[in-house]
Amino acid sequence: MKIAVLGAKIIGSTLARKWAGAGHQVMFGVRSLDNPETLALARELNGSVGTAAEAIAFGEAVVFAIPGNAMEEMIVTHGPALAGKIVVDAANRMGGGQMNSAALFAAHAPGAQVYRAFNSLGWENFANPMFGDLQADLFYCGPAGAGQAAVERLIRDVGLRPVRLGDIGQVGLVDMIGSLWFALAFGQGMGRELAFKVLTR
Ligand SMILES: NC(=O)c1ccc[n+]([C@@H]2O[C@H](COP(=O)([O-])OP(=O)(O)OC[C@H]3O[C@@H](n4cnc5c(N)ncnc54)[C@H](OP(=O)(O)O)[C@@H]3O)[C@@H](O)[C@H]2O)c1
Repeated sequence: MKIAVLGAKIIGSTLARKWAGAGHQVMFGVRSLDNPETLALARELNGSVGTAAEAIAFGEAVVFAIPGNAMEEMIVTHGPALAGKIVVDAANRMGGGQMNSAALFAAHAPGAQVYRAFNSLGWENFANPMFGDLQADLFYCGPAGAGQAAVERLIRDVGLRPVRLGDIGQVGLVDMIGSLWFALAFGQGMGRELAFKVLTR
């Protein structure tokens, strides 16, 4: 799959490493095209670096791994170019209000298939999703169909088990998992290497 990763630092690089390792082609969309760290990372992954517009044009899937406070401008600017793309919103808008950008995508990128994923656990659990023999789950939401299969593949290729909570209307529930993660990791001092598992019989 061709994946545009907007943002190339902690989350962008962690996810891109996993995807490149699984055989996907990654293009980072960044502000600074000559950042040596980003260029070295792209080389290491046999990927490429471009502007956000170039990366979005390249990607079948576009993953938002930028700060929450940068989401509105990015979505307003590039909304039309997201039409027909699988969009994965990993960004958390901290500081009160909605953590996700679902409403912004609906308003400015109505042609995109929007998924909420990779927002509810710390990056360490994407780098290593195994707890002994147990594979961590990743809760996500977004439309059923071809996009769902693609997003589940991306989640599996990071090493997590996808657990769909429903269509994008369930975005608040996915974000509550993120709040639960923060409450346990920081509020209860359990640390960042913490994830969730659904048990069924
Ligand atoms: N860290 C985690 O464990 C974690 C887990 C789940 C979700 N998230 C979410 O994932 C997102 C990225 O987190 P992170 O930890 O990877 O952050 P980070 O290490 O600070 O990386 C942010 C990236 O976004 C770029 N960026 C910053 N401001 C921008 C702007 N105005 N427009 C476009 N690009 C901009 C940065 O590029 P420059 O080098 O140009 O500044 C950098 O590549 C956040 O929304 C965060 O809430 C983080």
